[in-house]
Amino acid sequence: MKVVVTGANGQLGKCLQDVAKQFPTIECIFLGREHCDIQQFGMVTQVLHSLQPDWVINAAAYTAVDKAEQEAAAAQLINGEAVGHLAKVCKDVGAKLLHVSTDYVFDGTATTPYVETDAVNPIGIYGESKLMGEQLALEVYAAGTAIIRTSWVYSKHGANFVKTMLRLMKEREAIGVVKDQLGSPTYAVDLANALLTICEHPQFVPGIFHYSNSGIISWYNFAVAIQEISGLNCTVNPITTADFPTPAKRPAWSVMDCSKIERTYSIPLMEWQTSLQHCLRQLL
Ligand SMILES: NC(=O)c1ccc[n+]([C@@H]2O[C@H](COP(=O)([O-])OP(=O)(O)OC[C@H]3O[C@@H](n4cnc5c(N)ncnc54)[C@H](OP(=O)(O)O)[C@@H]3O)[C@@H](O)[C@H]2O)c1
Repeated sequence: MKVVVTGANGQLGKCLQDVAKQFPTIECIFLGREHCDIQQFGMVTQVLHSLQPDWVINAAAYTAVDKAEQEAAAAQLINGEAVGHLAKVCKDVGAKLLHVSTDYVFDGTATTPYVETDAVNPIGIYGESKLMGEQLALEVYAAGTAIIRTSWVYSKHGANFVKTMLRLMKEREAIGVVKDQLGSPTYAVDLANALLTICEHPQFVPGIFHYSNSGIISWYNFAVAIQEISGLNCTVNPITTADFPTPAKRPAWSVMDCSKIERTYSIPLMEWQTSLQHCLRQLL
């Protein structure tokens, strides 16, 4: 089975590279932006027609949440229109599309975990652009597309909350971390394993799925756990979203119910503490 991964040099792309060897039945072809720029439609068409994959995992995205507020056109092109085009080419070549999306399609006003059928209502440009990508892919190729929404992604690769916290905890005696945004972290290695498990699954079920690690915490709780496991000498203080203004608004509630992917694809849901320990063992 041949799987093409776009966005191969991003955080998730690199984790897919790390875990791919554990899936010997899958031949993964990793394409960074230089070999498959998803906003260059002709390039995508040419590359996929030439490679004839069974699956495409789209890990390419415009992920600068705050910058997107000033660069709406770029976010919409990469996260929206390019995903629609990718879906069309996947349909043409007979490949299934596994597209990664986000909890930011929701407005965060819920108080129970979001299920896949809950109403979407993004509160920022990034979330709007990711929703556009979901909708275009399903419009063009519903029968061959699975969308995996995830949240709070971290790993040893790229820029993420865990690496930022470790850096700040080494530099400062005390830091303030937001306590009034709740969610579930996702270790990108677990997500990468989940994506390749879907490719290997004997029966493909299209549609939208949620995937994160299990547990509900605030960014503050997450930072405290990072401090305790790392043993770094830094005090973590709780602050509110109002104390830490950012150009893009963030959902206050980012918790997703992930039972559908567990049920459909037999994907285990990992406890966030276990996955954090695994990641920190590699970073410390
Ligand atoms: N990180 C999170 O907390 C989080 C949360 C929820 C959902 N997600 C979703 O998870 C997925 C993976 O995110 P990530 O954390 O791995 O992000 P990332 O580290 O920013 O990786 C994204 C990759 O996409 C590449 N890319 C951007 N534009 C491209 C284009 N036109 N053609 C090809 N490649 C392009 C980037 O390349 P350059 O470096 O050259 O720009 C980068 O390597 C994304 O769909 C994201 O929306 C992430």
